[in-house]
Amino acid sequence: MAQDVAKRLGVPLGKVDLERFADGEVRPWIQEDVRDTTVFVLQSLSYPMDEHIMELTLMGDAIRRGAPKTMIAIVPYFGYARQDKLHRVGEPVSARVIAKILEISKFKEVITVDLHNDAIVGFFQVPVTHVSALSLLVAELKKMNLTGAVAVSPDVGGIKRARNFAYALDIPLAVIEKKRYLDRRDTSEAFEIIGCDIGKTVIIIDDMISTGGTIAHSTQSLVEAGAKRILVCATHGVLAGEALKNLEHAAIERVIVTNTIAIPPEKQLAKMKLVSIAPLIADAISQIVR
Ligand code: R5P
Repeated sequence: MAQDVAKRLGVPLGKVDLERFADGEVRPWIQEDVRDTTVFVLQSLSYPMDEHIMELTLMGDAIRRGAPKTMIAIVPYFGYARQDKLHRVGEPVSARVIAKILEISKFKEVITVDLHNDAIVGFFQVPVTHVSALSLLVAELKKMNLTGAVAVSPDVGGIKRARNFAYALDIPLAVIEKKRYLDRRDTSEAFEIIGCDIGKTVIIIDDMISTGGTIAHSTQSLVEAGAKRILVCATHGVLAGEALKNLEHAAIERVIVTNTIAIPPEKQLAKMKLVSIAPLIADAISQIVR
């Protein structure tokens, strides 16, 4: 994606040597003179997120030592975003910790895409450009026949996101009441469907597909409610654990995701459509460097 973004902007992609010692320590070496330049470092905090966070942090330190004019982090997928509040006493507010790590690394601004929770922007003291992939996903959906379609949020937390989609597509909105079990990792159940009658075509809208459990349960509830054609739209294709199996087996016609996380060919299902967010990132950069 960095190559694509650089090409769109007509700027060179800086060179960095990213080496690892035998014990696993990462050792970035910036091979550019960054003095008085504006440097953008693009890194998604996807799996293996802890390694990616360390790479970004150490690259930040290496770059700032070269005296750039400013240094901006582009984090298309902000990992740890779901740990955005104190879910249980004794747990960290991890999303806030990641925000602090980026600031300590001397990034002066951050560009990110479809945060799990908008409030994460408030964890930063530096400016954050929060880009939405909605327009790209909506454009993809508009290529299909959506007559009588209903937008569905698979949980109450996603209502605002799904409402924006419903509005952009001019279709009604429904919500599935989902239950998560804090003592059972990565498990959820779908319950009642609230809002409007489920038509034949349904578009499930979520910020991310991780294990695909949410999508699988939602699909099942929607089929039971009479849905005949189910489309799924999500910004981040995390695709962890049994995700591919869950998506493959679920009664879904199409899964539209963006490339905020690189999805290798072996993880791309025939029903999957990948949308590049490079134009949005290039646009966000142009707004900063005028
Ligand atoms: C949860 O609040 C998120 O918006 C997603 O619904 C969730 O993270 C998806 O996870 P999974 O695919 O593992 O069910």
